[in-house]
Amino acid sequence: MGIKRVVDLIQKKKSGSQITMLTAFDYMTSQILSDSGVDVILVGDSLGNVFNGYETTLPVTVDEMIYHTKAVVRGNQTAMVVADMPFLSYQISTQQAKETAGRLIKEGGAHGVKIEVGPSQLSDVAAILGMGIPVMGHIGFRPQSVHQVGGYRVQGRNKDQENEMIDTARELAQLGCFAIVLEMVPSHIATHISQLIEIPTIGIGAGVDCDGQVLVTHDLWGMTHRSPKFSKQYAAIRTDMMTAVSAYIHEVQTKQFPSPEFYVE
Ligand code: KIV
Repeated sequence: MGIKRVVDLIQKKKSGSQITMLTAFDYMTSQILSDSGVDVILVGDSLGNVFNGYETTLPVTVDEMIYHTKAVVRGNQTAMVVADMPFLSYQISTQQAKETAGRLIKEGGAHGVKIEVGPSQLSDVAAILGMGIPVMGHIGFRPQSVHQVGGYRVQGRNKDQENEMIDTARELAQLGCFAIVLEMVPSHIATHISQLIEIPTIGIGAGVDCDGQVLVTHDLWGMTHRSPKFSKQYAAIRTDMMTAVSAYIHEVQTKQFPSPEFYVE
């Protein structure tokens, strides 16, 4: 089947079929997502929360993103791999943005990059696109601006925010981005943006009328302690894992494991 490309995602929007995107930070998760047929694997900077246990995504570095992207690329056979541009890897200058995007492609092996976009990032997006790198914009709630917006809050609740978001989405589409993530956006705004622009919108906490959906895989698996309201848990892996570990502890302590069938002599 081969790796999915930008054209496949655009085609999905045209034909009205939903795009699926999930996060992966390691080889095995990537294999599972790829074998399951997800369209896009996102090496999100949410790895700062999920993998590293930070409160926010802000400490994540470009080198860490490259390290995880390489592992994900090795596990993937079918999906498009998109790597996040972490905080302070593009905000300083367009030159810096180009270098970061270039490294994620060249060293990480990603097929595209994702960037959280406010009005001042549009020229960076244009410059990265000018390098021949596919760009996915990220608007609505932008986790890298968590301190500015005062917490994990739905965006677009007032008219100014709504208009700014719609304008940014339109400009990103005009610049040539291949998709836009809409995070924590009221569903009527997400629906409007999805109808307005030709490129796919990928929603997270943005209602059902986006052109696709993304979740953090550890939330979907039910592996995290607590997950956001918009995130559905499709399994209870945390409980299953703890049950397995408790059984192991019990069997080792009671000398039930290893029983003779696990002997190697
Ligand atoms: O970093 C991430 O995982 C993301 C998704 C939640 C969209 O940006």
